[in-house]
Amino acid sequence: MERKEHWENVFSTKTEKEVSWYQQYPKTSADYITALGLPLEAKIIDIGGGDSYLMDALLDLGYTNLTLLDISANAIDRIKNRLGEKANKVTFIVSDILDFKPQEQYDFWHDRACFHFLTKPEDVDLYSKIVSQALADDGKLFIGTFSDNGPKKCSGLEITQYNRESLRFVFERDFKLTGCFTEDHLTPFDTIQNFLFCGFKRK
Ligand SMILES: C[S@@+](CC[C@H](N)C(=O)[O-])C[C@H]1O[C@@H](n2cnc3c(N)ncnc32)[C@H](O)[C@@H]1O
Repeated sequence: MERKEHWENVFSTKTEKEVSWYQQYPKTSADYITALGLPLEAKIIDIGGGDSYLMDALLDLGYTNLTLLDISANAIDRIKNRLGEKANKVTFIVSDILDFKPQEQYDFWHDRACFHFLTKPEDVDLYSKIVSQALADDGKLFIGTFSDNGPKKCSGLEITQYNRESLRFVFERDFKLTGCFTEDHLTPFDTIQNFLFCGFKRK
């Protein structure tokens, strides 16, 4: 099945709590963004955001310049319906990240469990180039993947597991690692997935 078809199918057949990555509140990401002290008008983009609650959380925190990119139009319809009027405050882009041609520069790039689906070296390389084009000179990057103690698949698809060094290596051409931590995510099925989160800033 093609990548897009897979995700359109997921978001048309499963409820939000029937997917392993569901979080009622994306505390790790929201806390990280708050701790960075980004101004409320900072341009923030969430890659493969799906229908996660990050946009809800950031709107509640007062952020005014939010973009969500996802390959699945169904996911974006779902979050738009949930947000109602507030959806007008978010820019939505339906695109495969590898086809994304950034039209503006962002201050913060967030990706939780989207980048790790790229398993071909040339796709990983293209992703890092797109990040570099899209981020402003003092832009920051925050990536969450399954760690090398985490699952080998996500949503039934092969993923690439990372550790601090392998993730640093992906972005090292233009970005400096500022820190990493691992975290156990409790899925709605009461299983544990070990994530690695790393932050980067431009060199
Ligand atoms: C495991 S879910 C994570 C969703 C969300 N980031 C979260 O933490 O709840 C992966 C998301 O990435 C999207 N996705 C997968 N591959 C993608 C790609 N190549 N380009 C853009 N989005 C993609 C899927 O549609 C889905 O919404």
